[in-house]
Amino acid sequence: MKRVAVLTGGGDAPGLNAVIRAVVKTAINVYDCEVFGVLDGYDGFLKKDGIVPLDLRAVRGILPRGGTILGSANRGNPFARKVKRKGKEVTIDVSDEIIKSIKKLKLDALLVLGGDGTLHIAHELCQKDVPIIGVPKTIDNDIGGTEVTFGFDTALNIATEAIDRLHTTAESHHRVMVLELMGRDAGFIALHAGVSGGADVILIPEIPFKFEAVTAKVRRRVERGSLFSILAVSEGAQPVGGGQIFSRKGDEIYVPRLGGIGQAVAEYVEREGFESRVTVLGHLQRGGTPSAFDRWLATRYGAAAVRLAASGGFDRMVALRGGEITDLSFEEALSHPKRVDAHGEAVLTARGLGISFGDED
Ligand code: F6P
Repeated sequence: MKRVAVLTGGGDAPGLNAVIRAVVKTAINVYDCEVFGVLDGYDGFLKKDGIVPLDLRAVRGILPRGGTILGSANRGNPFARKVKRKGKEVTIDVSDEIIKSIKKLKLDALLVLGGDGTLHIAHELCQKDVPIIGVPKTIDNDIGGTEVTFGFDTALNIATEAIDRLHTTAESHHRVMVLELMGRDAGFIALHAGVSGGADVILIPEIPFKFEAVTAKVRRRVERGSLFSILAVSEGAQPVGGGQIFSRKGDEIYVPRLGGIGQAVAEYVEREGFESRVTVLGHLQRGGTPSAFDRWLATRYGAAAVRLAASGGFDRMVALRGGEITDLSFEEALSHPKRVDAHGEAVLTARGLGISFGDED
């Protein structure tokens, strides 16, 4: 293995730079490789100056930095790229151009740091003989085959701190405070932060809720003398018989943008007589310095991805299982996205603590 490149795709997550650093250091120190960075996801292969050399100096000081020094794009699907032709927007497949660029660079391995979408693209490129290894990234923690993705722990810490802060003001004003959290179709951030922050209600996509049950919980608390409530609401949560709420529709390039369920819950609760406020934590969950856990996990993932590349284990993804770093095929990892087990130990624990999921009769 002589020449290796690394790219970061999809929404960013704290720990990306720690992976890049581990990749560069391991590839240079252990395998004496030349390392390249691809700028702005797969797009970098199509751009003039989209590939930059990465040496030890290039990764100095980036371990605690959030974001990605390589830039990212979550609409850069080379199999469906939107371009203007004769004044009209059309979708075209530019995967062959990317493959050409990879061949020209004489890459022995491409390490792709991404979530579900980016890794699906990686798997498709592998079918065209591109030697790719994936590193699972996302604050949502929704990738199958691995116990945890890097970025999740940091997001969780930020979400938990937000709940702590909402608690004090909720208590002062006897209000219902609704916190809308990210996670797409997986409720891990809301569930883990909700339990860690002591929320009274947790609404997640995996457990459809009833508005009346949410209000009933708030009312019970008031009757017992707790005049405030904290509601941790996952952006993908949906009422029984209703659908998810989106702030922007999707198309062939953009996935639909979730948002608004927190406001809907707060409005309902307020109509029932409980003063409410909404906080949408949004991208604060993705920005800033990674936690020590994420730096540790990201570093192990990066180093393991280089070792896997050296052994020729392509079309695979590194993963954490039983506390050990291992790897599995993209096919296996991507065929079963991870979701909260509605009947699992975590939900059971929360219910035992008196937390409502809004599904009680
Ligand atoms: O997948 C990560 C994530 O932060 C989701 O939790 C969220 O729904 C989405 O990305 C937001 O994407 P964007 O940065 O494009 O608004």
